[in-house]
Amino acid sequence: MNKKLAFGAFVALLTMAGCSGKTESAPTTSPSFDEVLTSRRSVRSYDATKKISEAEVRELLTATQEAPSWANQQPTKYYVAIGKEKLAAAMEMIGGNKERVAEAPVLIVSTFERGKSGFFQGHQTNEVGDGWGAYDNGLSNCYLILKARAMGFDTLIMGMRDADKLRELFSIPENETIMAVIALGYRAGEPNRPERRDLDDIVKFF
Ligand SMILES: Cc1cc2nc3c(=O)[nH]c(=O)nc-3n(C[C@H](O)[C@H](O)[C@H](O)COP(=O)(O)O)c2cc1C
Repeated sequence: MNKKLAFGAFVALLTMAGCSGKTESAPTTSPSFDEVLTSRRSVRSYDATKKISEAEVRELLTATQEAPSWANQQPTKYYVAIGKEKLAAAMEMIGGNKERVAEAPVLIVSTFERGKSGFFQGHQTNEVGDGWGAYDNGLSNCYLILKARAMGFDTLIMGMRDADKLRELFSIPENETIMAVIALGYRAGEPNRPERRDLDDIVKFF
């Protein structure tokens, strides 16, 4: 069986597990790294019949802990809305994105603690400052969305969200900057791949 077929079988198995209403663990065959990269898309329509367990979210977030960060500061934090009430409340704080992810069983708010990445003994190391915290947060979230795909899940990173309301809902401390909210679930259909710029538009070799 070639790799694409193997990945198709892998996704089909996950789909069958979801349809039966059970949250069974993923089969042992894993998609290749390239298959994870190319099959990951921003998904804006989720299958309401398929749930994700807290144990699965823990496995996913454990993978993010392998991400590199400035001086291993690990400034990223996650707030997971998986319970019915918190999830419903958080859905009201993502503006027009709600229509896209209303059926997603999990929303994850990502933040980073300021004054850690990009700082040494309380002093800013260079002109980027807390931008390094945002950088580390993006790296961590990148691990999250790729691991999610490897587990057969789908995601939508959302920058359109109400940070003040989310801070109150999850009691997020003031020293944390709220970045993206990430929807997690199973795709309801096949998403399109938006076109990419030509490689020569974004790369210069010297
Ligand atoms: C920082 C960031 C913020 C984003 N915010 C939103 C958003 O609020 N709503 C949305 O539908 N998509 C959002 N997206 C998804 C992008 O539109 C998407 O990644 C891009 O169109 C490329 O498509 P792809 O992810 O399927 O490759 C965001 C992506 C990133 C990285």
